[in-house]
Amino acid sequence: MLVWEDDARTPPNPVQRTAPEPTAGARTADLSPSALTPSSSSAASAMSTAQATVQAAAARAAVVTASHATPVSSGRVNAADKRIINGQTDVNQLVPFKYKWAWEKYLATCANHWMPQEVNMSRDIATWKDPNGLTEDERRIVKRNLGFFVTADSLAANNIVLGTYRHITAPEARQFLLRQAFEEAIHTHAYQYIVESLGLDESEIFNAYNEVKSIRDKDEFLIPFIGAIMDPNFKTGTLENDRTLLKSLIVFACLMEGLFFYVGFTQILALGRQNKMTGAAEQYQYILRDESMHCNFGIDLINQIKLENPQLWTADFKAEITALFLKAVDLEYAYAEDTMPRGVLGMNASMFKGYLRYIANRRATQIGLDALFPNEENPFPWMSEMIDLKKERNFFETRVIEYQSGGALSWD
Ligand SMILES: [Fe+2]
Ligand SMILES: [Fe+2]
Repeated sequence: MLVWEDDARTPPNPVQRTAPEPTAGARTADLSPSALTPSSSSAASAMSTAQATVQAAAARAAVVTASHATPVSSGRVNAADKRIINGQTDVNQLVPFKYKWAWEKYLATCANHWMPQEVNMSRDIATWKDPNGLTEDERRIVKRNLGFFVTADSLAANNIVLGTYRHITAPEARQFLLRQAFEEAIHTHAYQYIVESLGLDESEIFNAYNEVKSIRDKDEFLIPFIGAIMDPNFKTGTLENDRTLLKSLIVFACLMEGLFFYVGFTQILALGRQNKMTGAAEQYQYILRDESMHCNFGIDLINQIKLENPQLWTADFKAEITALFLKAVDLEYAYAEDTMPRGVLGMNASMFKGYLRYIANRRATQIGLDALFPNEENPFPWMSEMIDLKKERNFFETRVIEYQSGGALSWD
């Protein structure tokens, strides 16, 4: 039996352990954002007690629900009433828990905390400066890698903060997204820290997503799905818009975090395995661990939305998603070819074709689609060990300090 590289970190799919829930009821009219605007003192004094009560309730409703600002029940939150999308329960009340898996993943991500400056980059700097430290092909891999990742995680963060978050009405899931957003900031920090440490041309690296075709093509594939849910006028609550959100979540979790990151991660970790760029490789290893959690959370979120909204998952919709998977595999393979035009580090682009098909199969089956490329095997089984990094383990032995929560606080 094949062992999937991220199985060790994936709790059972919520589909397998959460009873089906009825879909949310009909939506009611939106509240005006003006409900949040404090009234003037003179107007307030003229307002009857009843009016004041109504306005306060409306303001609270606008805050406590998602962007759609549907009214909130006056009763206490019943966990059974919670929904991942289009919910009408109070999003400020984390408990009672309904989606325990989301809370547990939040706790797991917090336990993995790390910061880029904890990793010693001095060996990498010496290697990069040494004319014989790396081959030209290896240098190309490093620069192409950073060229994609220095902006990819900003895209990821913006997608969460400005898009996904406001459409998700389960506070347990929002809690994970808040943590995930911070981790995306740490990842951007890590890539910037590597660029700065190596003294690379910042302008070249940060503009690669505009100037390097294989990188730009991947981002141009992603951006419409991110943009759709970031549109301030976009609201869930219709079949079409709920599918738009679900599609965006699938593209983001399964294809961006779950596929587009994997050529780059594998290449840098392969350098580390050959005792080259071990600081960068360690940073990537921590990032890979985080991204594996993000991907798994996203897949659980997608499956829970499917469970609660089975009307979204039609044959046509599945065909549309399958086509996106195939396109993403092509784009990532083109990126692999561009980053390694010749064999390097015991790898070549065609090995990545197999690897990407293997990963795409995994992502497809995780969300209930058929495997796209039957019988593909993992050409890089060592990647499974990398993903299962334990916090206390220092694979490349470059870490200079241990993370400490708290630190020295003074209350003088
Ligand atoms: Fe990230
Ligand atoms: Fe991520």
